Amino acid sequence: MYLSRLHLRNYRNFAEQTVELPPQGVAIIGDNGQGKTNLLESIYYLEIFRSFRGAPDEQLVRFGEEVFRVEGTLRAPDGAERTLAAAFERRRRKKKVTVNGAEPERLADALGGVGAVIFSPSDVEIVAGGPGERRRFLDIVLSLAVPGYVASLQRYRQALLQRNTLLRGNAAAALVAAWNEPLIAAGSRVVAARARWVAERRDSFAAHYLRVAGGQPGALSFDPCFGEWTSADTRPDAVAEEFRAELERSADREARRGMTLVGPHRDDLRFSTQAEDGSALDLRTYGSGGQQRTAAIAARMVEAETIRETRGRESVILLDDVFAELDPGRSQRIIEWIDSSDGGQVILTSPKPSDVQVHGHSLPRWRMVAGQVVPE
Ligand SMILES: Nc1ncnc2c1ncn2[C@@H]1O[C@H](COP(=O)(O)OP(=O)(O)OP(=O)(O)O)[C@@H](O)[C@H]1O
Ligand SMILES: [Mg+2]
Repeated sequence: MYLSRLHLRNYRNFAEQTVELPPQGVAIIGDNGQGKTNLLESIYYLEIFRSFRGAPDEQLVRFGEEVFRVEGTLRAPDGAERTLAAAFERRRRKKKVTVNGAEPERLADALGGVGAVIFSPSDVEIVAGGPGERRRFLDIVLSLAVPGYVASLQRYRQALLQRNTLLRGNAAAALVAAWNEPLIAAGSRVVAARARWVAERRDSFAAHYLRVAGGQPGALSFDPCFGEWTSADTRPDAVAEEFRAELERSADREARRGMTLVGPHRDDLRFSTQAEDGSALDLRTYGSGGQQRTAAIAARMVEAETIRETRGRESVILLDDVFAELDPGRSQRIIEWIDSSDGGQVILTSPKPSDVQVHGHSLPRWRMVAGQVVPE
């Protein structure tokens, strides 16, 4: 499956634009501020129905307009087509998603329809940023790969909100505790899914990091709020038991602080490399810019693998100016990885034609000028 056609209307700086994409993909060159990232953002919008940059939908509507619309057609090798569309109306704050013209019962049913992964310079925040950035990364991957994850996460957030409101208002202990079981039921599923994913993928992360970094080791581990969940068969009921005990232990402290102090809203991931003496060195604190970027790229590679296995087909790889700050060796090894995923569509952007000459040698080239795509 590849993205064969994209139609944009009033999305960011695109007024009306239709592009036909070749199966192998395309390299898009353009000066700063022309719309390269916007184009990739619009494609990925059809994957998660929001901006990968975290921008609210209102900001995606072209200045002075009311409604944006993104439509993408995916084509299978046998010629079968599927059309995904999303539209957002600013005034009524209304979003409409359709798959082959029909609205899915729930938005979650339509998630992951493109099977895309996006690599962007801001990915470094997954490693260098706060724990919230890492949970966001995990939550998006798992929402796309694990059935029911979105529903558990939503139930968890709801229960957390209710419980925190009560704690903040100094409510009676029994009222707060009434929310413990809903919190535990949803939260333990979230924790178990995170633990399993990390356990299943840490070897692959290490292999990608080692390769891109040219022999330096790197590791990914789960740093949960409570317990030690390192097994690929971590079960929600095991997590639930510990969660319950933690909540009981923390009840007084939570009442004093006026918020829920334990749970997956405090989970984290840890990215590390090895110091000279063999001990683990946390990349968030001690990593160089390039090491942090390398870890973020390895994390995206693992995500691409997860998506590919979940969807049972090559993922669509979106690369936004990824070579900008990497040394030539690392850039080269990323290209080798892209080339090894044979048959997958690759859409890459760069402000520098020279980057694309080297890295996107086999891809047709387009130029982006002020929200218009023109073949070179
Ligand atoms: N809602 C909007 N309506 C119209 N234009 C917008 C909107 N949001 C952003 N833009 C414009 O889009 C342009 C930025 O596009 P984009 O981020 O895709 O650039 P780029 O080609 O990726 O540049 P760079 O090489 O610097 O990353 C800016 O000129 C910005 O003003
Ligand atoms: Mg950009």
